[in-house]
Amino acid sequence: MNILGIETSCDDTAAAVICDGKIIKSNVVASQKEMHEKYGGIIPEVSSREHFLNFLPVIEEAVTQAGITYRDLDGIAVTNGPGLAGALLVGVNSAKGLAMAWDKPLIGINHLEGHIYSAWLENDELGKAYGFPMICLIASGGHTDLVVMKDHLEYETIGRTVDDAAGEAFDKAARILGLGFPGGPEIQKMSENASGLVPKLPRPTVKNSLSFSFSGLKSALARRAESEGFYSNGIPSNPTDIQVREYSAEFQEAVVDCLVKNTLAAVEEFNAVAIVLGGGVAANSRLRIRMNSDSTVPVIIPAPRLCTDNGAMIGAAAYYRFRDGYSQEWDMDAIPNLKL
Ligand code: KG4
Ligand code: ZN
Repeated sequence: MNILGIETSCDDTAAAVICDGKIIKSNVVASQKEMHEKYGGIIPEVSSREHFLNFLPVIEEAVTQAGITYRDLDGIAVTNGPGLAGALLVGVNSAKGLAMAWDKPLIGINHLEGHIYSAWLENDELGKAYGFPMICLIASGGHTDLVVMKDHLEYETIGRTVDDAAGEAFDKAARILGLGFPGGPEIQKMSENASGLVPKLPRPTVKNSLSFSFSGLKSALARRAESEGFYSNGIPSNPTDIQVREYSAEFQEAVVDCLVKNTLAAVEEFNAVAIVLGGGVAANSRLRIRMNSDSTVPVIIPAPRLCTDNGAMIGAAAYYRFRDGYSQEWDMDAIPNLKL
């Protein structure tokens, strides 16, 4: 079954052709990084316009790179939430147009479900090998959710951030340290040669809960930066290389500690047989190392390029949705706050 997976919920226009929920025949991502870099974050109107301009070229490239024509597609899947309203609208309505013109079944996929199913790409044995339940940590620019996956397509959210998402925290910390956008990869790079020279930042918790809180951590970094004189009135002022390196590493370690701690507590509480990581923050090398070393159950983490937003994950999730039975979704809407 060849599915065209389309993703436009945030700042990447992405499309992929996925066979049987696991084989990546093509995976094309047009990033808007440079457009948003100028502003230090994502401007929703700019994002919608870029999706509109990139949509057809990206689809065409995905189908061509897969070595097929549109006639060989068995279905089209598009992210219909959660995400930026305008960005989702461009994707959903353009996908409807394609499905009508090409006479194909169309299905809407939850972006978070897509991040979870990234783990099944290029990994046929997952699920069969470990079984369920699994604990899924989805950590991205917009979400930090802990989910129990009880079976295919069956989820219960058991923890989430009560303020900033982990990726958002990385992005804000990068701004304090005078680094570029998106902040996560920059902070990871800067952390590489750190020596643990600065006092620890806090590891905020939410009492009696598996939820997360990152805004206090960001504020603690800002206060520390102010007291050391390299940040004032919301603007970084010439931190030294050592300050950037050491605070990047300490901030990264604090976020990783919080993510690992709650994920392992969830494994214990729900007797989970494996952990699945997804979302842009799952590309973080320190998180990957720590989760693997601290966990007593297997940890499945997609390749970094499949952790950040892509169309392949939407095509993978759609395979299981199509397999489960399906009716044409012409009335599908973009739902910015869609729940898992
Ligand atoms: O999943 P994603 O591509 O888009 C959303 O759905 O939000 O995640 C983007 C987020 C950004 O906040 C970015 O800073 C973070 O993921 N990110 C990382 C890394 N790569 C991307 N955070 C930490 N380490 C990384 N290597
Ligand atoms: Zn995402």
